[in-house]
Amino acid sequence: MRVISFACQKGAAGKTTLVGHVGVQAELAGAGPVVLLDTDQQGALAEWWNSRQPEQPAFAHAVIDQLTETIAQLRDMGFGLCIIDSASAISPTVEQVIAISDLVVIPCRPSPHDLRAATKTIDLVDGLGKQKVFVLNGATEGDRLTEEARAVLSEAGPVSPVAIFNHPDYADSMFDGLTVMETTPDGDCAREITALWDFLAGILGQTAPQVTDGPFTARHGTSG
Ligand SMILES: Nc1ncnc2c1ncn2[C@@H]1O[C@H](COP(=O)(O)OP(=O)(O)OP(=O)(O)O)[C@@H](O)[C@H]1O
Ligand SMILES: [Mg+2]
Repeated sequence: MRVISFACQKGAAGKTTLVGHVGVQAELAGAGPVVLLDTDQQGALAEWWNSRQPEQPAFAHAVIDQLTETIAQLRDMGFGLCIIDSASAISPTVEQVIAISDLVVIPCRPSPHDLRAATKTIDLVDGLGKQKVFVLNGATEGDRLTEEARAVLSEAGPVSPVAIFNHPDYADSMFDGLTVMETTPDGDCAREITALWDFLAGILGQTAPQVTDGPFTARHGTSG
């Protein structure tokens, strides 16, 4: 089982939206069975999943200080991919999430505030020696800021060639526990998410699996 987490200290970067969408698309693409984990106390991903009719992807309850054990159990249960949502913070919990990930996706909106705020997340991921990739979210076609943001981020690491554009369908679809692949499968948004998943799957294919056997030791003393 591979583990992808979405992390960004900046609020409203699109973590929860992209976890839900990428989770559904990964399942559709045959990378599953997929299980989602919500480690954000806001519980937005859990609420979305609870309002959902389709049974896939699965959802697992995350006990924060037992993430390593949870991941091992999910692996034993036969899941092929675990995707983790995290809080907008630099916290011991987010650090634990990153530590158990094979790949950390950092969504970033093309704005100066978001770019500055990404620095702390980048430092955390790099400090833990984890593979990361940036995804521009809320982009606008032909917008100078989007291209500038891509240039700035690419100095810190790989940037997904697929940007996710600003479109109301992303929020609309999630009202009903769905995603754009399920509400507007022939639309541009569904094509974006499909392309994003294909890109992430390619990176994951080149990334060594994270070894999660044995107890995880939180660096800031949150275990127990
Ligand atoms: N590409 C997009 N186009 C339009 N709206 C979007 C897009 N991505 C996210 N949103 C909307 O932006 C808001 C924030 O997105 P989301 O909740 O996914 O971010 P987050 O990083 O998880 O935020 P939080 O910090 O609260 O956890 C939501 O209302 C969501 O519907
Ligand atoms: Mg969120």
